[in-house]
Amino acid sequence: MDYLERCIKESMRLYPPVPVIARQLYAPLKTPNMLVPAGCSIFINVFEQHRIPEYFPNPLEFNPDRFLEKFKHPYAYVPFSTGPRNCIGQKVAMMSQKILIAKILKRYVVGSTVKPKNLRLAQNIVLENEGGVILTLKQRCDKDSSRESELSMGTESSMDKGSSTDDSL
Ligand code: HEM
Repeated sequence: MDYLERCIKESMRLYPPVPVIARQLYAPLKTPNMLVPAGCSIFINVFEQHRIPEYFPNPLEFNPDRFLEKFKHPYAYVPFSTGPRNCIGQKVAMMSQKILIAKILKRYVVGSTVKPKNLRLAQNIVLENEGGVILTLKQRCDKDSSRESELSMGTESSMDKGSSTDDSL
């Protein structure tokens, strides 16, 4: 589960579900290059920030183990924002992702028909790929684990019936 958590964190680094955070300044903001007056709206580009090599060496590489160490800056990684208006649901979000993904991976080998280089990312309220991302699910052979997860999931899903070994959904 620790490794899964690091994989989820690394996925949200490369593809932050909330790629931009907006704020209105109540006080002037001094940056190394300029003074931004109070009243201005500012946008924090989380997507680009998560790819700054200084904080994330070799930023395009999917490397969950980068989360084994502390980052150089405490606010380098902010998929749930930070400060007083950060995400109040982040623990629920992490837990539900872990449970859902663990349950799926126990029964299926998951793939994608879209390679990362062919993604056409679009910034809507959340980050999306134009046309979605088509996933492939291949049922694992281990009968015991699939039977066990079938029982613990409660119901028989429609994917259990018929061509469950077909990996093109
Ligand atoms: C992967 C899932 C999630 C991500 C990436 C995420 C991300 C964020 C981010 C970045 C913000 C700050 C937005 C801003 O300041 O403009 C935020 C705020 C918020 N999130 Fe989430 N969130 C997630 C799931 C959840 C869940 C599951 C809940 C509720 C159970 C939740 C409840 C909230 C609330 C209420 C706020 C507003 C907090 C405030 O303004 O004081 N989020 N979220």
